[in-house]
Amino acid sequence: MPDVIKKDRDAWRTDEEFGREMLAGVNPVNITRLQEFPPTSKLDPKAIKSNRLFILDHHDALMTYLRRINSTSTKTYATRTLLLLQEDGTLKPLAIELSLPHPQGERHGAVSKVFTPPEDGIVGIEASIWQLAKAYAAVNDSGYHQLISHWLNTHAVIEPFVIATNRQLSVLHPIHKLLQPHFRDTMNINALARQILINAGGIVEKTVFPARYAMEMSAVLYKNWVFTEQGLPADLLKRGMATPDPSCPHGLRLLIEDYPFAVDGLEIWSAIETWVTEYCTLYYTTDNVVQSDSELQNWWEELRNEGHGDKKDEPWWPEMQTRAELIQSCTIIIWVASALHAAVNFGQWPYAGYLPNRPTISRRFMPEPGTAEYAELEDNPDVAFLKTITSQLQTLIGVSLIEILSRHSTDEIYLGQRDTPEWTSDAEAVEAFERFGKKLVEIENRITTMNADKRWKNRVGPVKMPYTLLYPNTSDYSGEGGLTGKGIPNSISI
Ligand SMILES: [Fe+2]
Repeated sequence: MPDVIKKDRDAWRTDEEFGREMLAGVNPVNITRLQEFPPTSKLDPKAIKSNRLFILDHHDALMTYLRRINSTSTKTYATRTLLLLQEDGTLKPLAIELSLPHPQGERHGAVSKVFTPPEDGIVGIEASIWQLAKAYAAVNDSGYHQLISHWLNTHAVIEPFVIATNRQLSVLHPIHKLLQPHFRDTMNINALARQILINAGGIVEKTVFPARYAMEMSAVLYKNWVFTEQGLPADLLKRGMATPDPSCPHGLRLLIEDYPFAVDGLEIWSAIETWVTEYCTLYYTTDNVVQSDSELQNWWEELRNEGHGDKKDEPWWPEMQTRAELIQSCTIIIWVASALHAAVNFGQWPYAGYLPNRPTISRRFMPEPGTAEYAELEDNPDVAFLKTITSQLQTLIGVSLIEILSRHSTDEIYLGQRDTPEWTSDAEAVEAFERFGKKLVEIENRITTMNADKRWKNRVGPVKMPYTLLYPNTSDYSGEGGLTGKGIPNSISI
């Protein structure tokens, strides 16, 4: 077992680690800045004005499924977690709202209860209830992570690009040569996933709380997918986590300076963008060359109209008429297949392999005062907690799955590496690729330095586990693989 697994229960259960994992955990892509004041809240509106309030909001995505989900053995809520950005850069959870559908139907809205952390040092029932509230939020986040952040937004959406590239671009086409390493083994792993993971009654349905509604939920939420928002800068702007600022590196000012996924991600994104720009400019000297490349036009036409055919009429598709559109599109594709997938895939075992930190299912609702469950929570909080979260069998199946998914293969090819030096005979392309590799190694050093700097509290956290999911590992040719918790493979292959 690698030393990235820490079983210090008290550290895992701290509010600081709970907040930190929204910035440097296995699902760091859903937190948003709160931009409107909730009318029912008594919180200080000044915190919103100063951009210090953030929210992990799973309410809308889950609410329409809750009635059906809760008719099974699962008992859970749709959650919203409100967090305050503190002076030291860490997030402090202020409140967790647990919502259920109104018994008289959806048009009556939701029935919600808000829980707040106990005052410092308070143990006993208040602390146990707060631990349970955090567990329900973690359950929501773990299901959303597996089905949306991981399966839908990386594995599933990249597949049409793989197919269109193989069908429409010859192997000698420069864009085929650019993208092909980023599609290695993706069709294989997705085919395997359809056979044993996401199939009806398969392992995913057995281990995530939406269970038999898992794939329906993922398909419905695909309606929200916007290709041009998958690039990291656009994603950060959309979530309110950054604002445009030409004086900052990459043109963005992060609202949370110590947001490790975004800090490392922007470095990687820029490196990919520079590499793609330099490479594409070699072959596409003007926009006209893009327009008159019939293979390229057929590729994009198939991708848009057939591969992502359900979304063919969306207004946001790049028209593929300019070099800028080609560069933007290829940068997004490479980002999704490499860094975005690495960020949400390889941390599963390190961050979610200890279920009390990140349960996947809940089996009981929050106990009400006066009930036997409430008395049990008072007398024996650990037993009550374990009776609420994922069962032993589901835990064993789930942990076994994420252990496999988090493993790097021994023939992994990392970002900035190619399987053969003969991938092109164009010297200028080779030189540009070497610059890309050098930049990635610089980023590795920067991440290592930042992880050792105590000023950045979210990079290591109370559990003392440095954030390495976006460490590119370009310099590693050892072929060791395994549960390293770091490294950005070129492609989605697990
Ligand atoms: Fe994966």
